[in-house]
Amino acid sequence: MEIVEEYMSRVHDADLYPDHYVIHQKQGNQLTIECEQSGKYYDAINFGSNDILGLSQNEAVKRAAIEAIETYGTTNSSCATLCGRIDVHRQLEQEISRFKGLPHTYLFLNAWMALQAVMDGFCHLAIPVPDFRNTRETLILTDIQNHGCITSAVVNADSRSGKLLTQSPKVRVKAYRHINMDNLKQKLERFARPEDRIVVVSDAVFSMDGDIVPLPQMLDVLERYPGCVLILDEAHSSGALGATGRGIYEHFGLSPQDVKDRGIEPIIMTTFSKFAASAGAAISSYSKAFIELLDACPTSIGTISPPPSTTAAALEAVRQLQQQPDLPRKLRENTAFLRRLLRDQGFEALGETNVVPIILPDGMAPKQFAKYLLETMDIWVSPVWFIAKPRLRVVVNVSHSQEDLCNLVDAMVNTREAFSDVFKSAC
Ligand SMILES: Cc1ncc(COP(=O)(O)O)c(C=O)c1O
Repeated sequence: MEIVEEYMSRVHDADLYPDHYVIHQKQGNQLTIECEQSGKYYDAINFGSNDILGLSQNEAVKRAAIEAIETYGTTNSSCATLCGRIDVHRQLEQEISRFKGLPHTYLFLNAWMALQAVMDGFCHLAIPVPDFRNTRETLILTDIQNHGCITSAVVNADSRSGKLLTQSPKVRVKAYRHINMDNLKQKLERFARPEDRIVVVSDAVFSMDGDIVPLPQMLDVLERYPGCVLILDEAHSSGALGATGRGIYEHFGLSPQDVKDRGIEPIIMTTFSKFAASAGAAISSYSKAFIELLDACPTSIGTISPPPSTTAAALEAVRQLQQQPDLPRKLRENTAFLRRLLRDQGFEALGETNVVPIILPDGMAPKQFAKYLLETMDIWVSPVWFIAKPRLRVVVNVSHSQEDLCNLVDAMVNTREAFSDVFKSAC
């Protein structure tokens, strides 16, 4: 442990460790939070939450969660494969299938487990069957800036538990440049072999840059590889993109059927922690066989099924979105409003969605900037400093008023000025 002790003390000395906050109360975007380090309390406006449609405090969603607890208790106390699903699991799977336009869906506790199951299942066929031998290698192409759950699943894809159980063939993983479809094309031309099973996997909206995968151009590249599989992670696009919030396909005026018609096999991962006011993930596909296979994967058999309350909350949230089709439009209006304000004040905001990463002027550290915003102006945003281009990350939601967004930008302007004065006096 000495090395850990030494390392962590260096992390603290370099002010790299995140401050810890405890939320004591939440109403809309208004929070009472405590900074654990200082013990101070703040009544702040939240600009970091992923509750983009504001449904986590919707009365019908809360009631659905409470009723599920009353009907089934607080947990299912086992995995679905061994002890069965509850009816709410099946209803949510059917709802997601309708919502995403793919007939078969299976639920997971979260995105990380869902994608691990996809790799175990697709690459290694999970359970050994007498006299059946999978001989075809898998080639996976992944955007270099994909979310950590994708990166983790694909880097482990060659050594997943399925491989230990069977003699499954190799999995080769190649990263392509961020949303660069020419580079994806080049990588496919260079690495794809005739017998490969090809998988391309991408965030639909990138969680750190707030930009959108160029799906039409991607399909033009992929249709040269009939039978290839396209997995899109819709964590940040569900509820946000498309006229009715159905996500990336609706955004581009496409459907999964269009993709299928071009010889590409669409798979969608939906997550419930953002638009659906809950937790958990779902994998949807045209292939019933593939969804059955997921049920037999280690991350399905070896862990608890999604709890009744979170499953019911997600189900009601997806229904609420369909009953309130204006929510995605409102989200986009708020996003456009904030992005315009930031531009007018000379801030560099990346991407084009409600995930708004803001690169600060040289030398201004996001962590200190965010701390100043909270301590002096009761504004709470997420600082990100572990990646190549440190940034503030604002997530716009439908419950932000224009006044909230103006207050945020005014506070950022004041903070930038305060920090510039500190730099000037230090010179
Ligand atoms: C693109 C993307 N995929 C997956 C996840 C993980 O989702 P969850 O924690 O809801 O399972 C996130 C979380 O932020 C994400 O941004």
